[in-house]
Amino acid sequence: MIRVENLVKSFGGFRAVDNASIEIATGSITGLVGPNGAGKSTLFNVIAGVHAPTSGRVTMDGEDITGLTPHQLFHKGLLRTFQIAHEFPTLSVRENLMMVPEGQAGETLWNTWFARGRIRAEEEALRRKADEVLDFLTISHLAEEKAGNLSGGQKKLLELGRTMMVEAKIVFLDEVGAGVNRTLLNTIGDAIVRLNRERGYTFCVIEHDMDFIGRLCDPVIVMAEGRVLAEGPADHIMENEAVIEAYLGTGLKNKVLAEERAEAAAGEDLGAQPGLGDRAGKGGDA
Ligand SMILES: Nc1ncnc2c1ncn2[C@@H]1O[C@H](COP(=O)(O)OP(=O)(O)O)[C@@H](O)[C@H]1O
Ligand SMILES: [Mg+2]
Repeated sequence: MIRVENLVKSFGGFRAVDNASIEIATGSITGLVGPNGAGKSTLFNVIAGVHAPTSGRVTMDGEDITGLTPHQLFHKGLLRTFQIAHEFPTLSVRENLMMVPEGQAGETLWNTWFARGRIRAEEEALRRKADEVLDFLTISHLAEEKAGNLSGGQKKLLELGRTMMVEAKIVFLDEVGAGVNRTLLNTIGDAIVRLNRERGYTFCVIEHDMDFIGRLCDPVIVMAEGRVLAEGPADHIMENEAVIEAYLGTGLKNKVLAEERAEAAAGEDLGAQPGLGDRAGKGGDA
């Protein structure tokens, strides 16, 4: 379990994360939602060691991991993917996967000269592992494709694949659905669920698509203005007045209310004038 306690991250005088406390239970797919600028990515960055916190503490299974470097956290099985994908565009998808694991024998010149046989064996094992990952993600057909040619969604899948090349235990996905079409988003969602169920991955997922969050995540944590606003099952969260206000904004809240009123009105109309009610009800886009 990851436990974040009273975390503050200031940039100058501005508190991007303002006394946030959250828990990510082992084995969960925890959702993190909130409007742009809420501090979600900053919170991820502090947990993943990219930023040192201004104050507060992060523990992993009781061990204090506050301020450890991403490299040190990587060795504890904690991985973060970025809002913007970080692939090597001129390498193939398979090669991108093979780049990930650290401590490959081929890394140093010394090894290149003195351990050719071992390097070949390791590369073969890596290649097999990469192909297994591509198969798991149902993108084997893209193995030879240059990563730079992938669509946004395929790049996200590749990022997920890179976490599978190492023994990741906890994976932080930042805006996994950004710029991803519906079909690929479903593929990504399925892969997350299968990694969680079949391989024991814990996920913390930032995403704006509430259908995606609702389908995958329990619990869902809502942030706004650096603070944790609410936490609970997705359906509870989405009914929470404060959350609707902060997350959707007042304009959208009014739209939702208007639609609800219109639907109710349409229902009544339907009784009186069969066939007309539906169209009559859609005028309320305030
Ligand atoms: N490196 C930084 N320097 C200064 N301000 C930052 C930095 N990173 C984020 N912020 C600010 O912190 C706030 C939270 O940003 P962020 O964590 O990216 O929000 P979210 O991911 O929820 O959209 C924003 O107002 C943003 O401008
Ligand atoms: Mg962000």
